[in-house]
Amino acid sequence: MADELRLEHLDSEALKEHEDAISALYRVTYRDELDDPFHTTERFMERIRNYSKAPGFEFVLGITNDNPAGLALGYPLPAQARWWRGLTTPVDPELIEEDGTRTFALCELMTHPDWQGKGIGHRLHDELLFKRPEQRATLLVDSDNDTARRAYEKWGWRQIGKIRPGLPDAPHYDALILDLTVSMPG
Ligand SMILES: CC(C)(COP(=O)(O)OP(=O)(O)OC[C@H]1O[C@@H](n2cnc3c(N)ncnc32)[C@H](O)[C@@H]1OP(=O)(O)O)[C@@H](O)C(=O)NCCC(=O)NCCS
Repeated sequence: MADELRLEHLDSEALKEHEDAISALYRVTYRDELDDPFHTTERFMERIRNYSKAPGFEFVLGITNDNPAGLALGYPLPAQARWWRGLTTPVDPELIEEDGTRTFALCELMTHPDWQGKGIGHRLHDELLFKRPEQRATLLVDSDNDTARRAYEKWGWRQIGKIRPGLPDAPHYDALILDLTVSMPG
């Protein structure tokens, strides 16, 4: 099924052209969370517009039958990245040292509900991350998100702590990292 998937790398300009499709994909994928002010479509689109301004921003859109089936996007953390400022658990300071080239932040990975469980999330994940020049990647995941948690564990991610990003209504997340210096899993 995932063989029919087309993967397109889009820059921040192309992202603007696909805003309607991306917000439609978000609304259906996160339909159970849209009542939460942090998870409204408007807030999500605002967040990704901000990410897209970061140097090195990268976005992969997955398309099946000419319709968006999923996406993965992120950017490399700059030196003194705000990303780590919300840590609520102690970590080895060496683990959160950034120089702009060390860590790629995977800010979003989603697959349309009609296409989940068919390998698209994994394909988007690998397409985005294993072509990156950074040594490692990081992501934040809700500890109650069992499907994503299980997938990330299988794909080699490990938790280094807990984070509450610096917005008053932001959720508490598990902070995970992945070594990108190993070759892409088969
Ligand atoms: C998490 C998410 C991106 C996974 O996308 P996906 O396209 O379903 O992922 P895959 O089909 O590649 O499956 C991922 C793993 O989870 C398992 N899985 C996922 N959905 C499954 C389902 N419905 N039934 C059985 N197994 C499932 C698979 O075993 C797979 O493991 P594998 O790679 O070792 O085979 C998707 O569930 C999603 O969009 N969730 C909502 C948004 C979200 O929570 N994003 C993560 C934010 S951190």
